[in-house]
Amino acid sequence: MGDVIWIVGAGRGIGRCLALELARSGATVMASARNGAELEALREAAAGGAGRVVPLPLDVTDRAATARALAEIETTEGLPDTVVLNAGTHQAMPAARFDAGLCDRLFAVNVGGVINGLEAVIPRFVARRRGRIVTVASVAGYVGLPTAAPYSGSKAAVIAMCESLRPELAQFGVTVQVVNPGFVRTPLTDRNTFPMPFLMEPEAAARRIVEGMRGGGFEITFPRRFTWLMKALAMVPYPLLFALTRTAIPDEAKPAAATLPEAKDAR
Ligand SMILES: NC(=O)c1ccc[n+]([C@@H]2O[C@H](COP(=O)([O-])OP(=O)(O)OC[C@H]3O[C@@H](n4cnc5c(N)ncnc54)[C@H](OP(=O)(O)O)[C@@H]3O)[C@@H](O)[C@H]2O)c1
Repeated sequence: MGDVIWIVGAGRGIGRCLALELARSGATVMASARNGAELEALREAAAGGAGRVVPLPLDVTDRAATARALAEIETTEGLPDTVVLNAGTHQAMPAARFDAGLCDRLFAVNVGGVINGLEAVIPRFVARRRGRIVTVASVAGYVGLPTAAPYSGSKAAVIAMCESLRPELAQFGVTVQVVNPGFVRTPLTDRNTFPMPFLMEPEAAARRIVEGMRGGGFEITFPRRFTWLMKALAMVPYPLLFALTRTAIPDEAKPAAATLPEAKDAR
């Protein structure tokens, strides 16, 4: 799998477990996120294994800083064999409270962060004629889900970008893979109050990602039972899709919700 792996979004959740799994198997993991203390704790947690974790704090929404971070890795460890663009976030947004600021914040990380990582990495991997780029999207990118217009929209963008890039970059020996998880127990999903079907532990998710990376296929998705359901949903005709997704609208997004704005008189 290659020795030097850069994970963006490694401080907690899926990225943290992936970093530990890879370090255990002997990799040097360059671990990025904004919170340096979490990266330091990760480094300590990985100590004593076959590989190691090196903290490299970064806000991936900063284009220049992302380029500088990769240049620093290149200087200290050499160009990574694999880059995992995992940083992402979610916030529910009822449609009646459509908020451009919230959309901007989610897109800045979920799409902008991936774009910044791709811009830094692709030219170098192409020049070397080798490399693996792994992005983390979501099954929420297969179809637009209720209260998730920004999240589903951002993850659909990542999936489509990777579909575009994979065949082209394959010509240069560069592999593009996309991870589409279902529900995984992390600090991000700990905030959810609704039931999460087939919830997976992050350690199991990390093992599935490593297996998928080794396999080299385009999509790495889990847990299978849930992701097949989501794929089936993406294939049904729109009237049926909306009949199904309407049943998943939470109470806080319904007209009776006290927190929704009053309808304005358009005159
Ligand atoms: N958990 C799930 O059920 C699930 C399902 C489908 C897809 N996903 C996707 O999987 C990825 C990881 O999710 P998770 O549940 O593990 O989330 P998480 O527990 O919130 O961890 C996200 C990681 O990304 C980092 N991050 C966030 N914004 C960043 C930024 N601007 N620059 C650099 N790092 C940043 C966070 O650290 P800092 O805040 O310190 O920067 C943190 O280390 C996300 O892309 C998410 O959308 C998760």
